[in-house]
Amino acid sequence: MEIAFDRMLNALKAVGEETRLRILALFRTGELTVTELVTILRQSQPRVSRHLRLLCEAGLLERYREGTWIFYRLAEGGPEGDMARAIMQYIPFSEQILRHDGERLAEIKAERKERATRYFSENAEDWDRIRTLYVSEDEVEKILLEVTADMKIDDFLDVGTGTGRILEVFAPRIGRGTGIDLSREMLSVARVNLERAKLHNCQVRQGDMYDLALADQSVDLILIHQVLHFADDPSAALREASRLLRPNGRVIVVDFAPHTLEYLRDEQAHRRLGFKDTEVIGWLEQVGLKSDPVIHLKGTELDLSIWVAH
Ligand SMILES: C[S@@+](CC[C@H](N)C(=O)[O-])C[C@H]1O[C@@H](n2cnc3c(N)ncnc32)[C@H](O)[C@@H]1O
Repeated sequence: MEIAFDRMLNALKAVGEETRLRILALFRTGELTVTELVTILRQSQPRVSRHLRLLCEAGLLERYREGTWIFYRLAEGGPEGDMARAIMQYIPFSEQILRHDGERLAEIKAERKERATRYFSENAEDWDRIRTLYVSEDEVEKILLEVTADMKIDDFLDVGTGTGRILEVFAPRIGRGTGIDLSREMLSVARVNLERAKLHNCQVRQGDMYDLALADQSVDLILIHQVLHFADDPSAALREASRLLRPNGRVIVVDFAPHTLEYLRDEQAHRRLGFKDTEVIGWLEQVGLKSDPVIHLKGTELDLSIWVAH
């Protein structure tokens, strides 16, 4: 794809500076807030914000506000976004300064993961009550069974299984079910629940949604139910899910529609305040999946969206 001469010059000028090249390098994966970038780069917020503004104006990064948080990520679509990805391939990540930035980025990601894991370890026993606070789960479960009624499901995977409720719902419909979760405490509750319900075709184990440690093309149906809003890189989680999918398999994402309940960040470790339809559809398309028309459900305080992707 060609790019207009002045736009190309602008983009190259924007990255042709040490801090801004360091910033670009940090966007190899996922999205970051200004506060996180300030911590990594150890520069003042006004300076970092100025660099970010220049990178956005040049079309290399894009910014979006969600409540009081502002996120940045590589621009999607557009020749400058493609250029940023092309430049990424040549970045010498082993260079000392970039290695240190990468280490601090990894620390930030580990802290985030630790926060979410702490929340779930403290609330594991109570989760089955909390999960029904915002939407009628009966209705969601009914829809999930309806949209998969035509499928033969030998292998089922529930990513971020928590207390294993989704496994319980699908158990009678599937050959084998696996639930994967980061939190050992949630998994302990899930084991008790599966045992109590005598669901011997389901098992759970600890793992990470970014690295599910299962064979390529080994699963027919993957559910990601109320998990993506904890992810710092939702597109990477969907890429990993798509790797596991058999031909004709499906991935179903259930998550909140965009909302303004900022306190969920502090109280329940949410990172994202819901997702726009197009955002998730875009990530699915990037990994070769096509979403059916998105299903929307009204909740008491929060609305829910269901993306069924083939
Ligand atoms: C809101 S709960 C939803 C649980 C379950 N899917 C349900 O609907 O009841 C989110 C779950 O995602 C898990 N989780 C968060 N980050 C994860 C990750 N990187 N990999 C695997 N599980 C993760 C949490 O431990 C938690 O159990």
